[in-house]
Amino acid sequence: PLPDITKTFNPYFHLTHEHLGRIVSQFRTEFEDGLTHYGKDTAMVPSFVTGVPDGSEKGTFLALDLGGTNLRVCEVTLQGGHKFDIKQQKYKVSDELKKGAARVLFDYIAESVDAFLTDIGSGIANEHEPMHLGFTFSFPVEQTAIDAGKVLTWTKGFAATGAIGNDVVKLLQDSLDRKHIHVKCSALVNDTVGTLLSRSYQSGPALIGAIFGTGTNGAYIDRTRTIQKLGEEKIAGAEALGDHAGKFMVVNTEWGAMDNGRKVLPISIFDNKLDRESINPRKQAFEKLVSGMYLGEISRNILLHLIDSSLLFNGHSTTVLNTHYGYDAAFVSGIEGAESTDAARKIIIQELGIAKEHVSDGCVELVQWACRVVADRACALAACAIVAVILHTGNDKVPEGEKDTGVDVGLDGSVCEFLPHFDDRVRKTLKVLLGEEGEKRVRMGLAKDGSGVGAALCALQAKKAIEASR
Ligand code: BG6
Ligand code: GLC
Repeated sequence: PLPDITKTFNPYFHLTHEHLGRIVSQFRTEFEDGLTHYGKDTAMVPSFVTGVPDGSEKGTFLALDLGGTNLRVCEVTLQGGHKFDIKQQKYKVSDELKKGAARVLFDYIAESVDAFLTDIGSGIANEHEPMHLGFTFSFPVEQTAIDAGKVLTWTKGFAATGAIGNDVVKLLQDSLDRKHIHVKCSALVNDTVGTLLSRSYQSGPALIGAIFGTGTNGAYIDRTRTIQKLGEEKIAGAEALGDHAGKFMVVNTEWGAMDNGRKVLPISIFDNKLDRESINPRKQAFEKLVSGMYLGEISRNILLHLIDSSLLFNGHSTTVLNTHYGYDAAFVSGIEGAESTDAARKIIIQELGIAKEHVSDGCVELVQWACRVVADRACALAACAIVAVILHTGNDKVPEGEKDTGVDVGLDGSVCEFLPHFDDRVRKTLKVLLGEEGEKRVRMGLAKDGSGVGAALCALQAKKAIEASR
């Protein structure tokens, strides 16, 4: 049996139906606020992407992806028929680059593009026509056009100086030009927007693109008219574009910053410690309970508390356990996926460095509990975000006389890919909030490496617009 102390923490990890409902309401309030006013934490960024692809699109484009586990450079060939081919190379972004001068970071990115073109790319650029590149930049940006946007703030451990307030496309293009790399950055995309487009390209129209990875965020399709902060002129201009295009726009919610005011989120002492010691205290409140960058750290704080209470490992700690971000979410997934007590014990001994004699069956059970509650809560909260978008857009109901096509959600990121039973766990909360029938209407599927394809699709849209204006 688990020690009584674990019960004290239940209200922060096992969320009641009523509590989940309050979280969904807070989401909806912040969605509406962000659509009406600029400068909100849940920024509701208009992406200037006004349609989703139908799978017939063709062409070869470069895609650059900054903000997930790796920097990636890709060459994406959209083949039509919902198919694509992707060549890619991953490059590491060191902590020094993340926290140094933005110019150095962007020079490194440009060098990576250069290396990719030399080593891997098929070199379709020629002296007359640069290669078009779609840039997936997975941070909050106030986008002003498909190819322009100012960095609002850094998240996920980045803190490079000289970027905030500047146009990120210009930062990249300047670095490319300084190095005489014949590439034009023609589209700027958030990873969630890319995921939404990619899912739609591959398997039909989706409503939501969501990332549960190093960070968490979601994009969805809204009526352009609902994005009131754009102002009447821009809204009317977009609507005048045609029958369908322009009436709808993809919105990047930046839901990682939901409830920074801490009105409803279940923030425990372990989360407070994490926040206080983070490089962005009081920011990204929702993200810090849900995403891969933090799941290991929350569980580490719990384990340390149990050790200090002499309830775990006979009160012994280790260097790994004493180190800030000493281990990551892969430990939580490993423990969650372990098929027996012995398998879990092996992981504890290997990964945390605890001596065998201090790891009793009871200790293994406690570590499993800590990992389970952290992961369960993350999945329940992930479901709240999805439900909030479904309710906000009225997609919980089928308009009278119309066929029910359900709700499609494209997913990407290490948490949904590697956390055991992510899908089932999210569905459990979807059922609580939407009812059994409502939950069944939601289709969720991995759009792996989606943002490469999404960025290519945006670059295609931008290239067409450039050609049309010539
Ligand atoms: C990748 C996408 O597949 O997933 C990125 O290409 C995205 O754009 C990333 O940011 C999210 O996952 P993680 O776990 O790498 O942060
Ligand atoms: C962070 C970023 C956001 C991104 C998400 C997932 O929340 O602010 O832009 O989409 O991480 O990568």
